[in-house]
Amino acid sequence: MHQMTSHLQPEVEIINGDFKGKDIVSLDQFSVEDLTTVFNVTRQMKRIAENNEPCHILEGLLVGLLFFEPSSRTFGSFAAAVKRLGGQTLEMQNPEAVSSVSKGETFEDTIQVIEAYTNAIVLRHRFAGAARQAAQAATCVPVINAGDGNNEHPTQTLLDMYTLYERFGRLDNLTGLLAGDALNSRTIHSLLRGLSLYKNNTMYVLSPRQLRLSRDDYVSLQDRGVRLIEIHREQDIPRDCDFWYWTRVQKERFASAEEYQRAQSEIVVASPALLKTYAKKDMILMDPLPRVESVDPAVDADERAVYLRSQIRNGVYTRMALLALVLGRI
Ligand code: NCD
Repeated sequence: MHQMTSHLQPEVEIINGDFKGKDIVSLDQFSVEDLTTVFNVTRQMKRIAENNEPCHILEGLLVGLLFFEPSSRTFGSFAAAVKRLGGQTLEMQNPEAVSSVSKGETFEDTIQVIEAYTNAIVLRHRFAGAARQAAQAATCVPVINAGDGNNEHPTQTLLDMYTLYERFGRLDNLTGLLAGDALNSRTIHSLLRGLSLYKNNTMYVLSPRQLRLSRDDYVSLQDRGVRLIEIHREQDIPRDCDFWYWTRVQKERFASAEEYQRAQSEIVVASPALLKTYAKKDMILMDPLPRVESVDPAVDADERAVYLRSQIRNGVYTRMALLALVLGRI
């Protein structure tokens, strides 16, 4: 498949209160009302999952999980979400090794084949823009972006924002610290888009200079109204953040091992000492995971660290909600 440039793709449809049948490729499709809808349904889904309630919401439906890039959480939580709702999955991981893609089949053909078998396609791909391209190829079923290159990861943002909403009861007037690989982290890109929908949010972005946000992202996010403050040194971390959002350096996006090592050596690690110096008592520490020399395991016992607690569980509940909405079953 050729490299895709997302700005050449036509704009995706906004949700505008109606999820049924829509592709979900970017946070840009959501309004505050749409996010509120997802969070309201998520609360119901949490109850179903926590009580192990038998559920028929997706009964009779089959969801294709097409993952061209490695994944533990996103793949596992989508599979769990479909099954908790009584639906079934068709699972294809690493199709480049195990399917006709290895024989030279085009991306569009693969998508149309999976479309013929399923009621929705969840796609992860290493190319930015792949989700948009799949959405164009699949004309009969919705495509959900489960992460496309260094572009976006909208369902991660739904769970991240739900986690913030559960903890603080609001998504406006928040001060956050987003750390790590701002240039390549698709979870940071989608989260900033989501938080920019709400009033008076201030986000500090801590990264080595070479991993700061692209200037395009920086300008377009500032224009939406989220206050962005880029910092590069530990000493500049403010002490009043409501949350920290740590990310790993995205090794697979680097041209060489040396470049990656250089960037990694300049990263600030979230450690007990860092929390002690800069973190409020009532903040939360989030991480989309996997953590790779980004969060010290010694922090796990701290009640403020939610990445292995509520944040990870919310991934199933929010994906249950989105699937039920997009498949028109709620
Ligand atoms: C993230 C991703 O794939 O972008 N992982 C995930 O989906 N939870 C973050 C990462 O890989 O660093």
